[in-house]
Amino acid sequence: MDLKTLRINGSRLQGTLEEMARIGATPGGGVQRLTLSDEDKQARDLFVKWLEELDLEINIDEMGNIFGRRSGKNNSLPPVMSGSHIDSQPRGGRFDGILGVMGPLEVLRTLHENKIETERPIIIVDWTNEEGSRFAPAMVASGVWAGALERDWAYDRTDINGKRFEDELIRIGYKKDGPCQKFPVHCYYEYHIEQGPMLERQGKIIGAPKGILCLHWYDIYLTGEANQVGPTPMEGRHDALCAAAEMILKVNSLPDRMGGNLVATVGEIQNNPNSRNIIPDKVHFTVDIRSWDDDLALKAWDLLRSDIETIASRRGCPVKIEETWRVEHSPFDEKLVQRILDTSDALGYPNLHMVSGAGHDASYMNQVCPTAMIFVPSIDGRSHVEVENTTWEDCEAGANVLLHAILQSANESSANID
Ligand code: GLV
Ligand code: MN
Ligand code: MN
Repeated sequence: MDLKTLRINGSRLQGTLEEMARIGATPGGGVQRLTLSDEDKQARDLFVKWLEELDLEINIDEMGNIFGRRSGKNNSLPPVMSGSHIDSQPRGGRFDGILGVMGPLEVLRTLHENKIETERPIIIVDWTNEEGSRFAPAMVASGVWAGALERDWAYDRTDINGKRFEDELIRIGYKKDGPCQKFPVHCYYEYHIEQGPMLERQGKIIGAPKGILCLHWYDIYLTGEANQVGPTPMEGRHDALCAAAEMILKVNSLPDRMGGNLVATVGEIQNNPNSRNIIPDKVHFTVDIRSWDDDLALKAWDLLRSDIETIASRRGCPVKIEETWRVEHSPFDEKLVQRILDTSDALGYPNLHMVSGAGHDASYMNQVCPTAMIFVPSIDGRSHVEVENTTWEDCEAGANVLLHAILQSANESSANID
Protein backbone atom coordinates (compact mmCIF):
# COMPACT_ATOMS: atom_id res chain seq x y z
CA MET A 1 0.00 0.00 0.00
CA ASP A 2 1.03 3.61 -0.51
CA LEU A 3 2.12 4.59 2.99
CA LYS A 4 1.59 8.29 2.21
CA THR A 5 -2.17 7.79 2.20
CA LEU A 6 -2.20 5.93 5.52
CA ARG A 7 -4.16 7.65 8.35
CA ILE A 8 -4.94 6.72 11.92
CA ASN A 9 -8.55 6.04 13.00
CA GLY A 10 -9.70 9.25 14.71
CA SER A 11 -12.89 7.81 16.20
CA ARG A 12 -11.02 4.84 17.67
CA LEU A 13 -8.49 7.26 19.22
CA GLN A 14 -11.39 9.27 20.66
CA GLY A 15 -12.88 6.06 22.08
CA THR A 16 -9.67 5.05 23.84
CA LEU A 17 -9.23 8.54 25.28
CA GLU A 18 -12.83 8.55 26.49
CA GLU A 19 -12.41 5.12 28.08
CA MET A 20 -9.24 6.26 29.86
CA ALA A 21 -10.96 9.46 30.98
CA ARG A 22 -13.50 7.37 32.92
CA ILE A 23 -10.68 6.15 35.19
CA GLY A 24 -10.39 8.75 37.92
CA ALA A 25 -13.08 10.96 36.34
CA THR A 26 -13.84 14.08 38.41
CA PRO A 27 -17.19 15.86 38.71
CA GLY A 28 -15.85 18.88 36.83
CA GLY A 29 -15.07 16.84 33.70
CA GLY A 30 -11.39 16.19 34.37
CA VAL A 31 -9.45 13.27 35.81
CA GLN A 32 -7.52 12.62 38.98
CA ARG A 33 -5.02 9.81 38.45
CA LEU A 34 -2.24 10.65 40.86
CA THR A 35 0.88 8.65 40.33
CA LEU A 36 0.88 5.18 41.96
CA SER A 37 -2.73 5.62 43.14
CA ASP A 38 -5.46 3.02 42.61
CA GLU A 39 -6.59 4.97 39.55
CA ASP A 40 -3.07 4.94 38.10
CA LYS A 41 -3.05 1.14 38.58
CA GLN A 42 -6.43 0.75 36.91
CA ALA A 43 -5.33 2.81 33.89
CA ARG A 44 -2.04 0.91 33.67
CA ASP A 45 -3.89 -2.42 33.72
CA LEU A 46 -6.09 -1.29 30.85
CA PHE A 47 -3.08 -0.02 28.92
CA VAL A 48 -1.25 -3.35 29.38
CA LYS A 49 -4.37 -5.21 28.20
CA TRP A 50 -4.42 -3.07 25.06
CA LEU A 51 -0.71 -3.75 24.49
CA GLU A 52 -1.36 -7.49 24.81
CA GLU A 53 -4.07 -7.29 22.16
CA LEU A 54 -1.41 -6.04 19.74
CA ASP A 55 0.95 -8.94 20.57
CA LEU A 56 3.62 -6.53 21.73
CA GLU A 57 6.51 -7.68 23.87
CA ILE A 58 5.78 -6.05 27.21
CA ASN A 59 8.47 -5.09 29.68
CA ILE A 60 7.89 -3.32 32.97
CA ASP A 61 10.93 -2.10 34.86
CA GLU A 62 11.81 -1.51 38.51
CA MET A 63 10.47 2.06 38.31
CA GLY A 64 7.15 0.86 36.88
CA ASN A 65 7.83 2.18 33.38
CA ILE A 66 5.79 0.13 30.87
CA PHE A 67 7.30 -0.62 27.46
CA GLY A 68 5.52 -2.36 24.58
CA ARG A 69 7.81 -3.42 21.74
CA ARG A 70 6.70 -4.16 18.20
CA SER A 71 9.28 -6.09 16.20
CA GLY A 72 10.83 -4.68 13.06
CA LYS A 73 12.30 -6.42 10.04
CA ASN A 74 15.74 -5.85 11.49
CA ASN A 75 15.60 -6.23 15.25
CA SER A 76 19.28 -5.49 15.72
CA LEU A 77 18.57 -1.85 14.83
CA PRO A 78 17.80 0.49 17.76
CA PRO A 79 14.04 1.10 18.01
CA VAL A 80 12.01 4.23 17.52
CA MET A 81 10.30 5.12 20.78
CA SER A 82 7.20 7.16 21.56
CA GLY A 83 5.19 7.70 24.72
CA SER A 84 4.32 9.98 27.60
CA HIS A 85 2.51 9.47 30.91
CA ILE A 86 -0.74 8.07 32.30
CA ASP A 87 -0.63 9.90 35.65
CA SER A 88 -2.36 13.25 36.13
CA GLN A 89 -2.43 16.32 38.30
CA PRO A 90 -4.94 16.55 41.18
CA ARG A 91 -8.21 17.50 39.46
CA GLY A 92 -6.27 17.57 36.20
CA GLY A 93 -7.34 17.25 32.60
CA ARG A 94 -8.26 14.40 30.25
CA PHE A 95 -5.47 14.99 27.74
CA ASP A 96 -2.21 15.85 29.51
CA GLY A 97 0.06 12.84 29.16
CA ILE A 98 -2.55 10.28 28.20
CA LEU A 99 -2.81 11.68 24.65
CA GLY A 100 0.90 10.92 24.26
CA VAL A 101 0.32 7.28 25.25
CA MET A 102 -2.96 6.67 23.42
CA GLY A 103 -1.57 8.48 20.32
CA PRO A 104 1.26 5.99 19.70
CA LEU A 105 -1.11 3.15 20.71
CA GLU A 106 -3.40 4.28 17.88
CA VAL A 107 -0.37 4.43 15.55
CA LEU A 108 0.53 0.82 16.45
CA ARG A 109 -3.08 -0.30 15.99
CA THR A 110 -3.06 1.31 12.55
CA LEU A 111 0.18 -0.44 11.58
CA HIS A 112 -1.14 -3.73 13.00
CA GLU A 113 -4.45 -3.76 11.13
CA ASN A 114 -2.75 -2.75 7.88
CA LYS A 115 -0.05 -5.40 8.42
CA ILE A 116 2.67 -2.80 7.92
CA GLU A 117 6.17 -3.86 8.83
CA THR A 118 8.93 -1.37 9.59
CA GLU A 119 12.69 -1.81 9.41
CA ARG A 120 13.19 -0.91 13.05
CA PRO A 121 11.28 -2.06 16.09
CA ILE A 122 8.91 0.50 17.61
CA ILE A 123 8.50 0.89 21.37
CA ILE A 124 5.57 2.57 23.09
CA VAL A 125 6.21 3.72 26.66
CA ASP A 126 4.29 4.94 29.70
CA TRP A 127 6.71 6.74 32.05
CA THR A 128 5.92 6.55 35.77
CA ASN A 129 5.31 9.78 37.70
CA GLU A 130 5.74 12.45 35.08
CA GLU A 131 3.70 14.98 37.03
CA GLY A 132 5.72 15.14 40.23
CA SER A 133 2.66 16.41 42.04
CA ARG A 134 2.23 13.54 44.51
CA PHE A 135 5.93 12.64 44.65
CA ALA A 136 8.39 15.40 43.68
CA PRO A 137 10.17 15.73 41.34
CA ALA A 138 8.51 15.40 37.95
CA MET A 139 9.70 13.10 35.13
CA VAL A 140 11.38 11.01 37.77
CA ALA A 141 11.25 7.61 36.09
CA SER A 142 12.46 8.80 32.69
CA GLY A 143 15.16 10.63 34.68
CA VAL A 144 16.28 7.39 36.34
CA TRP A 145 16.05 5.55 33.00
CA ALA A 146 18.24 8.18 31.33
CA GLY A 147 20.80 7.94 34.16
CA ALA A 148 20.21 11.51 35.33
CA LEU A 149 18.54 10.60 38.67
CA GLU A 150 19.30 7.93 41.27
CA ARG A 151 16.81 5.08 41.55
CA ASP A 152 17.11 4.76 45.34
CA TRP A 153 16.68 8.49 45.83
CA ALA A 154 13.49 8.26 43.77
CA TYR A 155 12.31 5.25 45.80
CA ASP A 156 12.65 7.25 49.03
CA ARG A 157 10.60 10.25 47.91
CA THR A 158 7.49 10.62 50.06
CA ASP A 159 4.05 12.06 49.47
CA ILE A 160 2.23 14.50 51.74
CA ASN A 161 1.10 11.58 53.95
CA GLY A 162 4.61 10.18 54.32
CA LYS A 163 4.03 7.26 51.91
CA ARG A 164 7.19 6.17 50.08
CA PHE A 165 7.36 5.99 46.31
CA GLU A 166 8.77 2.44 46.29
CA ASP A 167 6.15 1.16 48.74
CA GLU A 168 3.36 2.59 46.63
CA LEU A 169 4.89 1.14 43.46
CA ILE A 170 4.92 -2.30 45.12
CA ARG A 171 1.38 -1.80 46.48
CA ILE A 172 -0.08 -1.28 43.00
CA GLY A 173 1.92 -4.23 41.65
CA TYR A 174 4.12 -2.32 39.22
CA LYS A 175 7.58 -2.74 40.71
CA LYS A 176 9.03 -5.37 38.39
CA ASP A 177 12.47 -6.83 37.84
CA GLY A 178 13.59 -5.14 34.64
CA PRO A 179 16.45 -2.71 35.27
CA CYS A 180 15.49 0.93 34.79
CA GLN A 181 18.38 1.69 32.51
CA LYS A 182 18.72 3.33 29.15
CA PHE A 183 19.26 1.24 26.04
CA PRO A 184 20.04 2.41 22.50
CA VAL A 185 17.11 4.25 20.91
CA HIS A 186 17.13 5.61 17.35
CA CYS A 187 14.87 8.55 18.22
CA TYR A 188 12.02 9.52 20.55
CA TYR A 189 8.77 11.32 19.74
CA GLU A 190 6.44 12.64 22.43
CA TYR A 191 2.94 13.69 21.42
CA HIS A 192 1.27 16.14 23.83
CA ILE A 193 -1.23 18.93 24.19
CA GLU A 194 0.39 22.35 24.12
CA GLN A 195 -0.89 23.40 27.58
CA GLY A 196 -0.60 27.06 26.57
CA PRO A 197 -2.37 29.51 24.21
CA MET A 198 0.05 29.97 21.28
CA LEU A 199 -1.33 27.49 18.71
CA GLU A 200 -4.91 28.63 19.23
CA ARG A 201 -3.96 32.32 19.09
CA GLN A 202 -2.12 31.82 15.83
CA GLY A 203 -4.71 29.53 14.28
CA LYS A 204 -2.29 26.59 13.98
CA ILE A 205 -3.01 22.89 14.45
CA ILE A 206 0.45 21.43 15.06
CA GLY A 207 3.27 22.79 17.20
CA ALA A 208 6.87 21.59 16.92
CA PRO A 209 8.79 22.83 19.96
CA LYS A 210 12.46 23.58 19.44
CA GLY A 211 12.90 22.38 23.02
CA ILE A 212 11.79 22.64 26.65
CA LEU A 213 12.60 25.30 29.25
CA CYS A 214 14.80 24.42 32.21
CA LEU A 215 12.90 23.47 35.36
CA HIS A 216 14.20 24.22 38.84
CA TRP A 217 12.29 23.12 41.95
CA TYR A 218 12.92 24.22 45.53
CA ASP A 219 11.29 23.41 48.87
CA ILE A 220 11.20 25.98 51.67
CA TYR A 221 10.51 25.00 55.29
CA LEU A 222 9.85 27.73 57.87
CA THR A 223 9.66 27.43 61.62
CA GLY A 224 7.83 30.05 63.68
CA GLU A 225 6.37 30.09 67.15
CA ALA A 226 2.80 28.91 67.73
CA ASN A 227 0.62 30.76 70.20
CA GLN A 228 -2.97 31.78 71.00
CA VAL A 229 -3.96 34.48 68.47
CA GLY A 230 -6.05 36.50 70.92
CA PRO A 231 -3.85 37.25 73.92
CA THR A 232 -0.55 37.32 71.97
CA PRO A 233 0.43 40.92 71.02
CA MET A 234 1.33 41.60 67.41
CA GLU A 235 4.85 42.71 68.34
CA GLY A 236 7.31 39.92 68.84
CA ARG A 237 5.35 37.26 66.96
CA HIS A 238 7.18 34.71 64.83
CA ASP A 239 4.45 33.96 62.34
CA ALA A 240 5.74 31.46 59.79
CA LEU A 241 2.81 32.03 57.44
CA CYS A 242 3.42 35.80 57.31
CA ALA A 243 7.07 35.11 56.51
CA ALA A 244 5.94 32.76 53.73
CA ALA A 245 3.49 35.37 52.40
CA GLU A 246 6.27 37.92 52.00
CA MET A 247 8.49 35.33 50.33
CA ILE A 248 5.78 34.23 47.92
CA LEU A 249 5.40 37.79 46.64
CA LYS A 250 9.16 37.86 46.09
CA VAL A 251 8.79 34.75 43.93
CA ASN A 252 6.00 36.37 41.97
CA SER A 253 8.03 39.52 41.27
CA LEU A 254 11.18 37.56 40.35
CA PRO A 255 10.62 37.54 36.57
CA ASP A 256 10.14 41.33 36.56
CA ARG A 257 13.16 41.88 38.74
CA MET A 258 15.28 39.66 36.47
CA GLY A 259 14.12 41.45 33.31
CA GLY A 260 11.82 38.75 31.88
CA ASN A 261 12.37 35.45 30.03
CA LEU A 262 11.52 33.60 33.19
CA VAL A 263 8.47 32.32 35.04
CA ALA A 264 8.36 31.67 38.78
CA THR A 265 5.55 30.12 40.80
CA VAL A 266 4.58 28.94 44.27
CA GLY A 267 1.97 26.24 43.70
CA GLU A 268 1.92 24.28 46.92
CA ILE A 269 1.84 25.26 50.57
CA GLN A 270 1.28 23.47 53.86
CA ASN A 271 0.50 25.52 56.90
CA ASN A 272 0.60 24.12 60.45
CA PRO A 273 -1.25 23.64 62.61
CA ASN A 274 -3.70 25.33 60.23
CA SER A 275 -6.13 26.56 62.83
CA ARG A 276 -7.71 29.99 62.62
CA ASN A 277 -6.80 30.74 66.23
CA ILE A 278 -3.21 29.55 66.39
CA ILE A 279 -0.25 31.54 65.07
CA PRO A 280 1.29 29.25 62.41
CA ASP A 281 4.59 27.70 63.41
CA LYS A 282 5.45 25.43 60.49
CA VAL A 283 5.07 26.25 56.82
CA HIS A 284 6.33 24.43 53.77
CA PHE A 285 6.01 25.84 50.26
CA THR A 286 7.42 25.01 46.84
CA VAL A 287 9.12 27.22 44.25
CA ASP A 288 9.16 26.46 40.51
CA ILE A 289 11.45 28.52 38.26
CA ARG A 290 11.60 28.01 34.47
CA SER A 291 13.49 29.67 31.65
CA TRP A 292 15.14 28.91 28.30
CA ASP A 293 18.23 30.49 29.87
CA ASP A 294 19.62 28.19 32.61
CA ASP A 295 22.01 30.87 33.90
CA LEU A 296 19.22 33.39 34.28
CA ALA A 297 17.21 30.85 36.28
CA LEU A 298 20.21 30.22 38.54
CA LYS A 299 20.83 33.95 39.03
CA ALA A 300 17.14 34.38 39.85
CA TRP A 301 17.48 31.69 42.50
CA ASP A 302 20.51 33.44 44.04
CA LEU A 303 18.44 36.61 44.37
CA LEU A 304 15.42 34.78 45.74
CA ARG A 305 17.48 32.79 48.20
CA SER A 306 18.90 35.98 49.65
CA ASP A 307 15.35 37.47 49.85
CA ILE A 308 14.17 34.36 51.69
CA GLU A 309 17.04 34.45 54.16
CA THR A 310 16.56 38.17 54.84
CA ILE A 311 12.83 37.81 55.47
CA ALA A 312 13.32 34.72 57.64
CA SER A 313 15.86 36.44 59.82
CA ARG A 314 13.87 39.69 60.15
CA ARG A 315 10.79 37.71 61.23
CA GLY A 316 12.71 35.36 63.53
CA CYS A 317 11.57 32.31 61.59
CA PRO A 318 14.45 29.90 60.92
CA VAL A 319 14.36 28.55 57.36
CA LYS A 320 15.51 25.32 55.76
CA ILE A 321 15.95 25.43 51.99
CA GLU A 322 16.12 22.37 49.74
CA GLU A 323 17.33 22.59 46.15
CA THR A 324 15.13 19.66 45.19
CA TRP A 325 15.58 19.22 41.46
CA ARG A 326 16.99 20.85 38.36
CA VAL A 327 16.75 19.83 34.74
CA GLU A 328 18.52 21.96 32.16
CA HIS A 329 16.74 23.42 29.16
CA SER A 330 16.51 20.83 26.37
CA PRO A 331 17.09 21.93 22.78
CA PHE A 332 15.65 19.15 20.61
CA ASP A 333 17.23 17.57 17.56
CA GLU A 334 16.82 20.13 14.76
CA LYS A 335 16.36 17.57 11.98
CA LEU A 336 13.68 15.77 13.92
CA VAL A 337 11.89 19.03 14.74
CA GLN A 338 12.03 19.95 11.05
CA ARG A 339 10.54 16.53 10.28
CA ILE A 340 7.50 17.38 12.42
CA LEU A 341 7.07 20.69 10.58
CA ASP A 342 7.52 19.05 7.15
CA THR A 343 5.18 16.17 7.99
CA SER A 344 2.54 18.65 9.15
CA ASP A 345 2.93 20.57 5.87
CA ALA A 346 2.62 17.37 3.85
CA LEU A 347 -0.59 16.48 5.70
CA GLY A 348 -1.97 20.00 5.27
CA TYR A 349 -1.90 21.05 8.94
CA PRO A 350 -0.84 24.66 9.67
CA ASN A 351 2.10 24.51 12.07
CA LEU A 352 4.26 26.54 14.40
CA HIS A 353 7.87 26.33 15.55
CA MET A 354 7.70 27.19 19.25
CA VAL A 355 9.01 26.47 22.74
CA SER A 356 7.60 24.18 25.44
CA GLY A 357 7.04 25.85 28.79
CA ALA A 358 5.74 22.60 30.28
CA GLY A 359 8.11 19.86 31.38
CA HIS A 360 8.00 16.48 29.62
CA ASP A 361 9.80 13.15 29.75
CA ALA A 362 11.22 14.29 26.40
CA SER A 363 13.64 16.46 28.44
CA TYR A 364 15.40 13.38 29.75
CA MET A 365 14.97 11.38 26.52
CA ASN A 366 16.73 14.25 24.76
CA GLN A 367 19.82 13.33 26.82
CA VAL A 368 19.71 9.79 25.38
CA CYS A 369 18.70 10.09 21.70
CA PRO A 370 17.45 12.56 19.07
CA THR A 371 14.10 13.78 20.37
CA ALA A 372 11.18 15.90 19.17
CA MET A 373 7.62 16.64 20.24
CA ILE A 374 4.29 17.18 18.52
CA PHE A 375 1.86 19.64 20.11
CA VAL A 376 -1.84 20.16 19.43
CA PRO A 377 -3.86 23.15 20.68
CA SER A 378 -5.26 23.48 24.17
CA ILE A 379 -8.64 25.23 24.09
CA ASP A 380 -8.33 28.65 25.78
CA GLY A 381 -4.75 27.65 26.65
CA ARG A 382 -6.00 25.87 29.80
CA SER A 383 -4.23 22.83 31.26
CA HIS A 384 -3.64 21.09 34.62
CA VAL A 385 -7.32 21.87 35.25
CA GLU A 386 -10.54 19.93 34.78
CA VAL A 387 -11.65 22.05 31.81
CA GLU A 388 -8.50 21.16 29.87
CA ASN A 389 -9.71 20.39 26.34
CA THR A 390 -8.57 19.72 22.79
CA THR A 391 -10.85 19.01 19.84
CA TRP A 392 -11.05 15.42 18.60
CA GLU A 393 -10.07 16.67 15.13
CA ASP A 394 -6.86 18.12 16.53
CA CYS A 395 -6.14 14.91 18.48
CA GLU A 396 -6.52 13.03 15.21
CA ALA A 397 -4.29 15.48 13.31
CA GLY A 398 -1.48 15.18 15.85
CA ALA A 399 -1.69 11.38 15.77
CA ASN A 400 -1.42 11.44 11.97
CA VAL A 401 1.73 13.55 12.24
CA LEU A 402 3.05 11.08 14.81
CA LEU A 403 2.19 8.14 12.52
CA HIS A 404 4.17 9.56 9.60
CA ALA A 405 7.07 10.76 11.73
CA ILE A 406 7.34 7.29 13.29
CA LEU A 407 7.03 5.55 9.91
CA GLN A 408 9.81 7.66 8.46
CA SER A 409 12.13 7.08 11.42
CA ALA A 410 11.32 3.40 11.73
CA ASN A 411 12.21 2.84 8.08
CA GLU A 412 15.56 4.64 8.33
CA SER A 413 18.22 2.01 8.02
CA SER A 414 21.26 4.15 8.76
CA ALA A 415 22.10 5.34 12.27
CA ASN A 416 21.54 8.94 11.16
CA ILE A 417 18.33 10.91 11.04
CA ASP A 418 17.96 11.37 7.25
C1 GLV B 1 4.63 19.05 34.10
O1 GLV B 1 3.45 18.76 34.03
C2 GLV B 1 5.05 20.40 34.33
O2 GLV B 1 5.08 20.81 35.50
O3 GLV B 1 5.28 21.13 33.36
MN1 MN C 1 2.25 15.99 30.55
MN1 MN D 1 1.26 17.80 33.43
